[in-house]
Amino acid sequence: MVAGLDQYGVFGNPIGHSKSPLIHRLFAEQTRQTMNYEALLAPLDGFATFASDFFARGGRGANVTVPFKEQAFALATQLSERAERAGAVNTLCRHADGTLLGDNTDGAGLVRDLMINAQWPLKAQRILLLGAGGAVRGVLQPLLAQQPSEIVIANRTLSKAEALAQHFADLGPVLASEFAWLQQPFDIIINGTSASLSGALPPLPAAVIRAGHTRCYDMMYSAEPTAFNQWAQDLGAAACMDGLGMLVEQAAEAFLLWRGVRPDSAPVLAALREQLAASA
Ligand code: ATR
Repeated sequence: MVAGLDQYGVFGNPIGHSKSPLIHRLFAEQTRQTMNYEALLAPLDGFATFASDFFARGGRGANVTVPFKEQAFALATQLSERAERAGAVNTLCRHADGTLLGDNTDGAGLVRDLMINAQWPLKAQRILLLGAGGAVRGVLQPLLAQQPSEIVIANRTLSKAEALAQHFADLGPVLASEFAWLQQPFDIIINGTSASLSGALPPLPAAVIRAGHTRCYDMMYSAEPTAFNQWAQDLGAAACMDGLGMLVEQAAEAFLLWRGVRPDSAPVLAALREQLAASA
């Protein structure tokens, strides 16, 4: 912590490669906010104590990443509706009265990246969401709020997709599917599986892509196209994006919550893209 500055940080384990300190430093410079933001390695078996101590020492807010988002959900004393739905918290904000607000900005970040940065409309679109883990659960409510004509959740373990579809059924048309059952093209496909991490691909039938029409988004990012985006590109997808913009936009949403000002994400995204390319 730096004396005299408003303190923020990101809790994770591991945390060494987090881009959040750079993103928030650039946001703070751009908006002339006097604050300090650090990567904080929380112990795997002591998240609650570690986080509570940070806020007891005056910490104003924090981002939360793997594997602590569910524990941050439990720690928060107040939850935003989107965090409640996601069952996970990626942003904590301590108010003057001691309340610890838990929010989840992942889905809003994805929606901004799709609709504003990429200019992909979501309303009345057929959307295929791949995966049924925390990443997908975190984005379903903000996606459904844009009124797609339907969202199909496809997952290797069908029961997990079914449970998610049921959990969000009151917010719009959500269906669950096995990968192999998918025989129709979609307007937008969003990969929320962790398969890209190991360069693997979900076993998707090629029929889900209509050449020149279907747009594909991978929540993962890398210097080279992800395995999923490469596959989609080879099948003639109209456009492919990775999740670097989502990372910057979820951070911008957190920054807005903490500081009351929305930073301009475009120059920060450009700086990160350049850094990623240089590291390849
Ligand atoms: P996260 O929080 O990143 O979503 P998670 O909760 O562990 O992580 O979920 C990972 C998701 O990626 C799951 O939907 C998982 O499928 P299962 O539910 O069947 O385990 C999916 N996944 C991981 N590796 C995959 C692969 N090689 N092919 C297809 N799906 C995969």
